Amino acid sequence: MKPKFYVTTPIYYVNDVPHLGHAYTNVACDALARCKRLAGSDVFFLTGTDEHGQKIEKAAATRGENPQAFTDRISPAFRDLWATLGISNDDFIRTTEPRHKAATTAFWQRLVERGEIYLGGYKGWYAVRDEAFYDEGETTLRPDGSRVAPSGAPVEWVVEPSYFFRLSAWQDRLLDFYEKNPDFIAPQSRRNEVLSFVRGGLKDLSVSRTSFRWGIPVPGDAAHVMYVWVDALFNYVTATGWPDAEAPRAGFWPADLHMVGKDILRFHAVYWPALLMAAGMAPPKRVFAHGWWTVEGEKMSKSLGNVVAPGDLVERYGLDPVRFYLLREVPFGNDGDFSRRALIGRINGELANEFGNLAQRSLSLVARHCEGRLPAVGARTGDDAALLARAAALPALLAAAFNRQAFHEGLEEVWKVVRAANAYIDHQAPWALKKTDPARMAVVLRVLADVLRVLATVLQPVMPGSMACMLDQLGVAETARDFASLATPLAEGTPLPPPQGVFPRYTDAE
Ligand code: MSP
Repeated sequence: MKPKFYVTTPIYYVNDVPHLGHAYTNVACDALARCKRLAGSDVFFLTGTDEHGQKIEKAAATRGENPQAFTDRISPAFRDLWATLGISNDDFIRTTEPRHKAATTAFWQRLVERGEIYLGGYKGWYAVRDEAFYDEGETTLRPDGSRVAPSGAPVEWVVEPSYFFRLSAWQDRLLDFYEKNPDFIAPQSRRNEVLSFVRGGLKDLSVSRTSFRWGIPVPGDAAHVMYVWVDALFNYVTATGWPDAEAPRAGFWPADLHMVGKDILRFHAVYWPALLMAAGMAPPKRVFAHGWWTVEGEKMSKSLGNVVAPGDLVERYGLDPVRFYLLREVPFGNDGDFSRRALIGRINGELANEFGNLAQRSLSLVARHCEGRLPAVGARTGDDAALLARAAALPALLAAAFNRQAFHEGLEEVWKVVRAANAYIDHQAPWALKKTDPARMAVVLRVLADVLRVLATVLQPVMPGSMACMLDQLGVAETARDFASLATPLAEGTPLPPPQGVFPRYTDAE
């Protein structure tokens, strides 16, 4: 049986249309999901939309819409964007779906039965924009008398009856869990932040609201709706079919990886495992917090008018170059700055000049001098074997890097081989061998075809469309594009289609 792998993105608030930050997470998860599939896992990749809570209710009201109609209108913008970005998610969950309301209600009841939830009253600060409660000490009083959360979101004073989750009782068990599972939170610096937050002491968590209606009703007390984060986090379990143990995806819980932005780590790494353990359920195996993108040095914001629409980028620069740039440019986990200059630099440098030219040069020589057929393996030299050995190591290197969410490192390993292959072709000069030693030319071209095959195979997770095109040109059957198939050599004499450039240079019209 194939090993199971379950990866999730956060579910996105539908108060706004998707932007570059959202696309980033989904592209990263998609690359990992595709890599796992190629390496032989049975993958479940989930994304979706977060549709309840005060923030969504307000956003709908501002537009004069009822919240259900509003979320019905915005959620498809996310679904459509994922199709545009080639995201291979296996399911798309909306928290307003009946399956989710039913599962979350059952989860709540289980927490009540286990004595983990009690009725009390909340008095304190709340930021609607973050959908988060804050201690006064975490907030800052501004000169104009307003008060803000660490995120800069305005907070308001809330006094209302509320159900509480006994989070304080889970402090030691959480610390014990982190200690026994050193890879649960990554990167390490984020793990340290979470540890010190938990060591600082946990207070019981308010898990219901009474001052608005847009949420899942608390079972048995319809005056309350569940706190949107409890509702939202549970999406990851709902999608596995819980509580139906016979559901087709029941075996995917616990999730192998929740990918999140650094701003929502506390919810995933503290509240979420505590809630699950309290319900007698397994916590997820890992939470990775990635960094944030700025745009040309500035914070991305509607007021600055610099919000990057991923669909526009794809239209202008092409899908795969954008996906490549996002994962190549910034060490995954760090913050990054989106710049068109840097994107164009990657397109023209690494994609067009380095990789595209390598493929184009090799394949057009095969077309011209080998009658368009894949040459035989022939007698290989030490140089040939050295390059091929470096290529052969790539699937394992890439998978190991991706398994640590070090996408940039995986791509750097691939690029080392791209550069080595360019040095090889320059040194071997197969175009000159045509006259002097055609047999050797054929061997060199076959080495290059074999190296290109590996490169195109391992780059599929990041650039699926263009690598499919390159594998077509190399005569690799669609059923032989996983990592295991690399062990089987391509048949000599396979007719290859006429080569065509995969990565055009980008020239600015302006
Ligand atoms: N709905 C919650 C998540 C619930 S998960 C159970 C939420 N939604 S969100 O739409 O506000 O944000 C979703 C993700 O987008 C977060 O992981 C956040 O870090 C990420 N990003 C938002 N802006 C970003 C950048 N500028 N750069 C990178 N990621 C960014 O939070």
